[in-house]
Amino acid sequence: MERIGVLTGGGDCPGLNSVIRAVVRKSLLEGYAVVGIKNGWKGLVENDTMLLDVNAVSGILPRGGTILGTSRTNPYKKEGDPEKVKDSFKKMELYALVAVGGEDTLGVASKLAQDGIPNIVGVPKTIDNDLSATDYTFGFDTALNIATECIDRLHTTAESHHRIIVAEVMGRHAGWIAIEAGIAGGADVVLIPEIPIDLEEVCNIIKKRHARGKTFSIVVVAEGAQFKDKGLVTQEQKLDSFGHVRLGGIGEALANEIEKRTGYETRVSVFGHIQRGGTPTAFDRVLGTRFGVKAVELIKNKKFGRMVALQGIKIIDVPLSDAVKALKTVDMELYDIAKVFFG
Ligand code: F6P
Repeated sequence: MERIGVLTGGGDCPGLNSVIRAVVRKSLLEGYAVVGIKNGWKGLVENDTMLLDVNAVSGILPRGGTILGTSRTNPYKKEGDPEKVKDSFKKMELYALVAVGGEDTLGVASKLAQDGIPNIVGVPKTIDNDLSATDYTFGFDTALNIATECIDRLHTTAESHHRIIVAEVMGRHAGWIAIEAGIAGGADVVLIPEIPIDLEEVCNIIKKRHARGKTFSIVVVAEGAQFKDKGLVTQEQKLDSFGHVRLGGIGEALANEIEKRTGYETRVSVFGHIQRGGTPTAFDRVLGTRFGVKAVELIKNKKFGRMVALQGIKIIDVPLSDAVKALKTVDMELYDIAKVFFG
């Protein structure tokens, strides 16, 4: 029986277990056995696996996180690790590998596909929705719905206290969560990484709302948004193994500036990892399931070095390298729609 390995890498997100379950169920139907590789690429470096049979994936569909665990281990950052990955691949007697991840995990998959492990297929995951070649990544819809509910909750308390509340959302260098949660939650200003923050403009919008009798405002800011003159706000200057700085803190900085410049009492609420936790929405469960089944079909048809993707309403496949070519940032048409409701 040929063996398929599956791993989940990078930040976790709701829907990962839907993919794992789908990979296992479809593989067993097609006559493959499945090996679960623990903690992303780390599991291949350390030869750390778990058995994935039908019982192992029973009941996991509504569960957040990943039963395989995850890590941000990048084998290309440490000498000798790519060789360890290739050795483990042989030791595990794998025929093919399904790598479920975002830009970083799929970047490694793309490299490995050209560097000794050709039988790889990718599945796009991230709450940030910033991967090219797919309209949506699973995990995004859940994060968006959580952020929207949080904004709804901020509205009532902001209104009672006549306050400005700045809501800081995740998304890294793309403003997808901010813009869509901002539209869905009726934010009064939405600030995204794609457009530098003009503080004067933000304060004018808030003052105009006050002038028409609205004594509260909700400002949604993406963690990767930057002030026109000051650049990114980061938590510390340490980089993770993929070379990313940890974002976070723009909400606090923005709230201070707004309070100082307008004189209105301002608070900040950082949604943080709440956006990544818990049960996936039906949309993410269905998308994850479709991606997982399609990944096994690609293996069956020997279509390696490819990534499954959603385009329109169809699940298609694209070269792995396409997914990581460029960051997918917010469409300015969507931003213009959000802007109609500013103020
Ligand atoms: O990429 C997903 C994401 O949640 C980003 O939105 C965020 O910047 C980052 O991961 C947070 O990473 P960590 O879980 O390592 O704090």
